[in-house]
Amino acid sequence: MSLDFKVADLSLAEFGRKEIRLAEHEMPGLMATRAEYGASQPLKGAKIMGSLHMTVQTAVLIETLVALGAEVRWVSCNIFSTQDHAAAAVVVGPNGTPDDPQGVPVYAWKGETLEEYWWCTEQALTWPGGEGPNMILDDGGDATMLVHKGVEFEKAGTVPSPTDDDSEEYQVFLRLLQKSLAADPQKWTRIAERIKGVTEETTTGVHRLYEMQRDGRLLFPAINVNDSVTKSKFDNKYGIRHSLPDGIMRGTDVLIGGKVAVVCGYGDVGKGSAEALRGQGARVIVTEVDPINALQAAMDGFQVTVLEDVVETADIFITTTGNFNIITADHMARMKHQAIVGNVGHFDNEIDMAGLAKTPGIVRTEIKPQVHEWRFPDGHTIIVLSEGRLLNLGNATGHPSFVMSNSFTNQVIAQIELFTKTAEYPTDVYVLPKILDEKVARLHLDALGVKLTELTKEQAAYIGVDVAGPYKPDHYRY
Ligand code: NAI
Repeated sequence: MSLDFKVADLSLAEFGRKEIRLAEHEMPGLMATRAEYGASQPLKGAKIMGSLHMTVQTAVLIETLVALGAEVRWVSCNIFSTQDHAAAAVVVGPNGTPDDPQGVPVYAWKGETLEEYWWCTEQALTWPGGEGPNMILDDGGDATMLVHKGVEFEKAGTVPSPTDDDSEEYQVFLRLLQKSLAADPQKWTRIAERIKGVTEETTTGVHRLYEMQRDGRLLFPAINVNDSVTKSKFDNKYGIRHSLPDGIMRGTDVLIGGKVAVVCGYGDVGKGSAEALRGQGARVIVTEVDPINALQAAMDGFQVTVLEDVVETADIFITTTGNFNIITADHMARMKHQAIVGNVGHFDNEIDMAGLAKTPGIVRTEIKPQVHEWRFPDGHTIIVLSEGRLLNLGNATGHPSFVMSNSFTNQVIAQIELFTKTAEYPTDVYVLPKILDEKVARLHLDALGVKLTELTKEQAAYIGVDVAGPYKPDHYRY
């Protein structure tokens, strides 16, 4: 079998395989899904293109999709988030060798350029022979956007020329589509027609999907995996509670205890971030725009104020908003010497890195990959992690297996739903039914020694639910 792929180094596969083996034990939801559906092969015929951080945990997801019958091609959704040994192990596969790889085509390595990033995404969307996938599994919506923008520009017969106002990333993206349109003016239209649906992992990607749906631009159905309770209330919160301090520590080795840390945004990711930093002994300050989240932060015991009030005195600044221009170049110029600045929201525009780079007289020094010191003309410096991109994946290894098992079990169930029941999902954005959400949680209880209380029939009737669930109405917020 000849496999097309591009990863850093296939000789890392053995190390990757060992870590995948350990991760499998920590991912009971995914392993139970393999046991439940392995024989019936519900994903047979599915050609799944995945764009999601190529980590050890994602390797277990990929191999679960394959175990259920799917053909898979994969990329990372971030230039810094690939774990090269995981990528190598997935390409080699459980039964292959580096000389005879038999796994899944992966196009991902840690430290891609933007050009390489979009090239990889296009490669994963293009099966040998030019055919596209019939399913997308997305994180942040870049693969979905490439297909949608490709179709839009093919319809228009032209791709707009990049301008200086466009972000560097969007300029690269437009250039890729210009080339693709010149080579094959119907490529994305053909690919889009075949796609049965997309399952989307994160808040930012879901936001893009609802926008497209609202504007009548969505081309195929989507399942919003993020808003399964067992995803956003677990991965976004408890995942970041683990991987944020991990990233700060591996990046800087600075003692967090006693420092003043500012967390911008108190949504699910912000809540996990603030709790983690407080757990390390930091004095945590929160900024918010939403009065409900601000009140929550205050009642959780955090000072809530505006960035301007603390920008000159705090030591650590973390953005978690999914919004842009949260920390500006002017803010960074006013920070104290060696303040640490990092982002865990999906895109790198929460911190104005472009503005920082344009500051007259600024000097950037690489301390090590993904850790940079920026010296202002007055001599003071700040430390920026992962160049403003997701620092928990750039400086550390992302969320740990157990929490990702929850997220990824939702992903697998969502893929099966859309692929096998396509007719039941006209083009729209859906969330999984609550009973499946509860099933995902159930699959993770034994591993933690949790004993569930069972409702009696009378109790179930009294609160108006079935003994077997679902236990809550859809509007319940957890
Ligand atoms: P969320 O919507 O629950 O929280 C975002 C919060 O930021 C909201 O409460 C909002 O009011 C607040 N906000 C918006 N603009 C603000 C501003 N200018 N100043 C202060 N606060 C502001 O979203 P969630 O689920 O917490 O996700 C946040 C981001 O993190 C998204 O981009 C998501 O895709 C990403 N994410 C990252 C993960 C990681 O591993 N690093 C994991 C999961 C999600």
